[in-house]
Amino acid sequence: MRIDIVTCLPQLLESFFAASILKRAQDKGLVEVHLHDLRNYTTYKHKQVDDYAFGGGAGMVLMIEPIVRCLRALQAERTYDELIYLTPDGEKLSQRAVNTLSLKQNLLLLCGHYKGVDERVREHFITREISIGDYVLSGGELAAAVVADAVIRLVPGVLSDETSALTDSFQDDLLAPPVYTRPADYEGMKVPDVLLSGHEANINKWRYDQALERTRQRRPDLLGE
Ligand code: ADE
Repeated sequence: MRIDIVTCLPQLLESFFAASILKRAQDKGLVEVHLHDLRNYTTYKHKQVDDYAFGGGAGMVLMIEPIVRCLRALQAERTYDELIYLTPDGEKLSQRAVNTLSLKQNLLLLCGHYKGVDERVREHFITREISIGDYVLSGGELAAAVVADAVIRLVPGVLSDETSALTDSFQDDLLAPPVYTRPADYEGMKVPDVLLSGHEANINKWRYDQALERTRQRRPDLLGE
């Protein structure tokens, strides 16, 4: 899988993709993440990529021209399965959407900034718009990082224990059950006996019951209740 991220602040994302699971995934050759600085695609003076909104009002808007120059340069090299714009008015990100995106070969993520991008970019170039929640960030970079992280960890081979993604919260519309590690008794705070029993069927039943109970208490909407 290849993910191209178009942003006017690539430095915000560099360290994020240079550590931990995301770095290992790239080192193993399972995913490629490429950051593209919008300022390298502008023909305006002082590397300008934004301008005042026609009609007035506060806030700057990312101009269509550098964005399209960048998108066209990238599209000349490969076909993208989706060109995704991160925006608070997009479809709300869900595990279902993440699962679908993890099956794609080439994704492009466009980060907005300031007041967003010229609407013509959205109308004519973008294939999907995603929000990571009902709040406004100062730019799409953190949202792009969230989408890329959630997608990359599902690419086969990225997680050392592949089954661990299958037991994530939301994969079966249930929250994940509690987990414990050593020591089994910490100052009298004990790990549930069943987890120490070695009895796989009982452990699985306990985990399922806990997941159901946790979901009922915290997110009854997931159960349609
Ligand atoms: N850009 C600004 N806020 C955002 C959000 N909530 N989701 C995605 N992109 C954004």
